Amino acid sequence: MTVDATTFKAVMGQWPSGVTVITTVDDSGPGGMTASSFSSVSLNPPLVSVCIARHLAMHTRIDQAGVFAVNILSKNSVDDGRRFAGMLPGVTNKFEGVDYATAVTGSPLLANTLGWVDCKVWARHDGGDHTIFVGEVLDAGIDKTAAPLLYHSRSWGQFADVLASEATLLRAGAEPTGSVVVTNAFGAAAASPAAVETLISRVQATLAESPNPPMLVLDDAATAADPLQLRLAIQAIAGLVGRVPVALRLGAGPMALANVLVALKSGVRHLVVSPDSSSAYLAEADVATMLRRMGVGLSG
Ligand SMILES: Cc1cc2nc3c(=O)[nH]c(=O)nc-3n(C[C@H](O)[C@H](O)[C@H](O)COP(=O)(O)O)c2cc1C
Repeated sequence: MTVDATTFKAVMGQWPSGVTVITTVDDSGPGGMTASSFSSVSLNPPLVSVCIARHLAMHTRIDQAGVFAVNILSKNSVDDGRRFAGMLPGVTNKFEGVDYATAVTGSPLLANTLGWVDCKVWARHDGGDHTIFVGEVLDAGIDKTAAPLLYHSRSWGQFADVLASEATLLRAGAEPTGSVVVTNAFGAAAASPAAVETLISRVQATLAESPNPPMLVLDDAATAADPLQLRLAIQAIAGLVGRVPVALRLGAGPMALANVLVALKSGVRHLVVSPDSSSAYLAEADVATMLRRMGVGLSG
């Protein structure tokens, strides 16, 4: 028994994926196609794979040119996704009006992507009516940190973080005995990604001095962090602390409640608050009101 094509397509459509544009270059100029079959294959040597339908012109072009680049699309690039899938009516030259740079292999690197890899074809494997092209990554880069474009059941979409269902509010001073505090944590992280690295080094140094504390408190009276930097920092720190719970203590600045929300969506479950609004830090009543309205249960 073999599954029928309609069922197969319907089931595979349930598998969500990211979206890329695969590009190449030859005598006829740059070529590109939307593809979601991109996958990481090997770290050493660095290899990736893409599966390309044999009947497509891009199949012949990549096969013959022996090079391709993979551009990872951000949520703002639905138009590029449609354009390079041949879905934009009236577009005959896919690259007309498209801003791109040129990779080492000569393949186009689209503007405003999340990142890219530039490859030389390493192997070709039979994949039925597709060919699995394995590419050796010669060069790679991250363009900007943003949310990815997703594809599911023929719809374009974007990633939604899961908001915690429950959070703990701790009054300052009520943290578990032995908790370690990193002061001015995000004030430093606001400026640049390099400042996030500085914060990560500080956390590493703190944990080297006091390994496995009952809680790590990121304390920032200045609240100079912007939500994106805060998110990057929290994600990186989560990878360092293992099972140690991370708590956040933020100053009462204009970004503070937005940052609390971002923190809860990035895995933080503990917030250190002040009993009233006379301190430089966020007040318990304000945080509790926001969490209640967002449907986040309070414990502790
Ligand atoms: C989200 C999405 C993902 C796709 N992924 C692939 C893929 O991995 N491999 C493939 O051969 N075609 C894939 N396609 C179809 C090609 O993009 C499409 O057949 C091709 O770009 C058509 O280009 P053309 O009109 O210039 O021939 C995908 C299409 C979409 C919309």
